[in-house]
Amino acid sequence: MVREHRVEVDNLIYPLFLVDGKGVKDEVKSLPGNFRWSIDLLVEEIADCIELGIGSFILFPAVADSLKDKEASYSYAEDNFYLEAARKIKSKFPNICLISDVAMDPYSSDGHDGYVENGEIINDRTLPILNKMALAQAQAGFDILGPSDMMDGRVESIRENLDANGFYTTGIMSYTAKYASAFYGPFRDALDSAPKGGDKKTYQMDPANCKEAIREAILDESEGADYLMVKPGLPYLDIVKTLSEESTLPIAVYNVSGECAMLMAACEKGWLDYEKAMPEMLLSFKRAGATAILTYFAKDFAKLKKAGKID
Ligand code: PBG
Repeated sequence: MVREHRVEVDNLIYPLFLVDGKGVKDEVKSLPGNFRWSIDLLVEEIADCIELGIGSFILFPAVADSLKDKEASYSYAEDNFYLEAARKIKSKFPNICLISDVAMDPYSSDGHDGYVENGEIINDRTLPILNKMALAQAQAGFDILGPSDMMDGRVESIRENLDANGFYTTGIMSYTAKYASAFYGPFRDALDSAPKGGDKKTYQMDPANCKEAIREAILDESEGADYLMVKPGLPYLDIVKTLSEESTLPIAVYNVSGECAMLMAACEKGWLDYEKAMPEMLLSFKRAGATAILTYFAKDFAKLKKAGKID
C-alpha cells in the first residue's frame, strides 16, 4: 500500500543488435544472453518479447567495415539493412514502439559519432549527415529517433528537418546527458564501433560535471526534445534525479552494457543473486526519477515478472 516505486515491464526499452544476413544469432561475448541478430531471427525474438509484455525496442546496427566511410553514407543508403529491418518490424508489429540510434559511429570509418577532420570532430559538418540519417529512419517507420551523438544543436536541426518533411509525429528521445564513460565497452564490442583514434571526450560529457547536464537539458527542451536521457545509469543516478526535478519532460535512463556486464559477471561467479540484484538495480532508476529504462535485462525482468518472482 505504501510502496513508492515499482518497475513495470511497460517502463522497459529493450536494446537489440542487428546484423545483415540470414540465420545469424551471434552472442556478444562481453554481454552474455545478448546477440547480434539477422532480421529473420530478430523478428522471432521480438515476437517472444511481445508475448512477455515488452512493447518498446531500440535497434542498433553492426555494420561491415567495407560499408563504412568518413561520411557515414551507408546510414541513409537505399539498401541499408537497418532501415529495411525497421520497415519489416513495423509492418509485422505495428503496435510496438521502435526507437532508432542516430549517430555516425556504427557507419563511420573513424568510429566517431561526428565527422572527423585532422583528428578533430567537426560539429557543424556532422549535422547535415545526422539529418539525412534521421529522415531516412523516420521514413523507414521508426516511431522515436534517438540522437546519441552529442553534437550541439542536433535536436533542433533534426526536429526542423522532420517537420519540413511531414514527420510531425516522429518523436525525439535525446541522449541529453551522455557521459564519456568507460562503461560502453561491451556495446562497442557488439558493434565493433570503438573509435579508431582519440576518444569521445570532445563531445560526450565529463563524468565530473553535474550542472552541465542541466545546461544540456535546457538546450534539448528548447530545441524540441520529447524525452531526456541520462547515460550511463547506475554511476549517474544523481544526474537522473537532478534532471527529473529540473525538467517536466519524461526522463529515460540507459542502463548501459558495462553496468549489465558487471552484474552478470558477478552473478556468474556466484557472488550475487541475479534474480534479486537485477530487479533491485532497475528499481534504483525508477526511484531516482526515470520512467523509461533502456536495459539489456528487459527480457529477463519480464520473465521474472511473468513467473511471479517480482512483486
Ligand atoms: C554511440 C552509442 C554508444 C552506446 C549507445 N550509442 C557507445 C558510445 O558512445 O561509444 C552505448 C550503449 C551501451 O554501452 O550499452 N552512438
